Amino acid sequence: MTATATARAHTNIALVKYWGKADTDLIIPQTGSLSLTLDQFYTDTTVTFDEGLTADDVIVNGERLSAQRATKVHNFLNLVRQQSSRASFARVTSVNHVPTAAGLASSASAFAALAGAASQAAGLTLDRTALSRLARRGSGSATRSIFGGFVEWHAGHDDLSSYGVPLVEKVEWPIAVVALVLDPHHKKISSRQGMQSSVNTSPFYPAWQQIVADDLAAIKPAILAQDFTTVGETLESNAMRMHALTLSAWPPYSYFNGDTLAAMQTVKELRAAGVECYYTLDAGPNLKIFCQNSDIAAITKRFSQQFGGDNVIVAHPGPGIQFLDEA
Ligand code: DP6
Repeated sequence: MTATATARAHTNIALVKYWGKADTDLIIPQTGSLSLTLDQFYTDTTVTFDEGLTADDVIVNGERLSAQRATKVHNFLNLVRQQSSRASFARVTSVNHVPTAAGLASSASAFAALAGAASQAAGLTLDRTALSRLARRGSGSATRSIFGGFVEWHAGHDDLSSYGVPLVEKVEWPIAVVALVLDPHHKKISSRQGMQSSVNTSPFYPAWQQIVADDLAAIKPAILAQDFTTVGETLESNAMRMHALTLSAWPPYSYFNGDTLAAMQTVKELRAAGVECYYTLDAGPNLKIFCQNSDIAAITKRFSQQFGGDNVIVAHPGPGIQFLDEA
């Protein structure tokens, strides 16, 4: 007997970052976080449980993964098998849709789509809170990609209490995120390793926990009030303080490269020229710029001159998880 389902999930950019786990097995974070789901970057995943298979078979962007590279997916499918009556192995076919071969695909959209497709194919009927909790077990940031728009991840303290909650799902605020592709290659220090090192060795970590609490308290009412300046200043300062945890870890490390610093300088110059925009970045050098739709043209023009037009991608708020009908 076979059972198949397909799901699409979009990636998200954190405005208040998740950077550290309280429980590395269950992926319970040290703090809450808040993100914006983006329309341009998404993953489509089909899962088929098939009694004829002798192992899980994982194909990503047309390439079959070795058993070793498929370990995270296999472990995740084991969770779904435990929760359901499905015992067979599965075929997983996943396609990351990114505008260029940009290395912007993320574990957030991947594990959110896998959670949706695998649970549905296994015959589980999970509401979106339960799906968010399941996605969390694959990758923390996937917790938020179940929902569209602005999403908060409540840290919680155990498996039941740690999940995403939409703050504004249908965003009617004319804002955008301009993504700069400054280095398409895989990050050298994964977020998983990096955040663990910050928790264990940065003397600033206790201050970070207070910063996140304060930033969440500031950014949520600002989003609801469409107060662009407060949202922008909060997200930029939150990102820089997260990255201060990498420089203050031992051994120290950084996700910035020379182009990252140059692009930050350009954002400051744009602001000085009256184009209000703010930057953030995750565990890699690619800067993302938060702006109002009315400023997209000025921002893309400036960065296309600096880094080439193919490396500038405009995204808008995106939707939550979707289940796609089989062709
Ligand atoms: C900097 O979700 O990739 O993007 O839970 O270990 O899979 P794991 O980490 P991951 O970390 C994301 C870190 C971040 C900030 C964020 O998305 O909140």
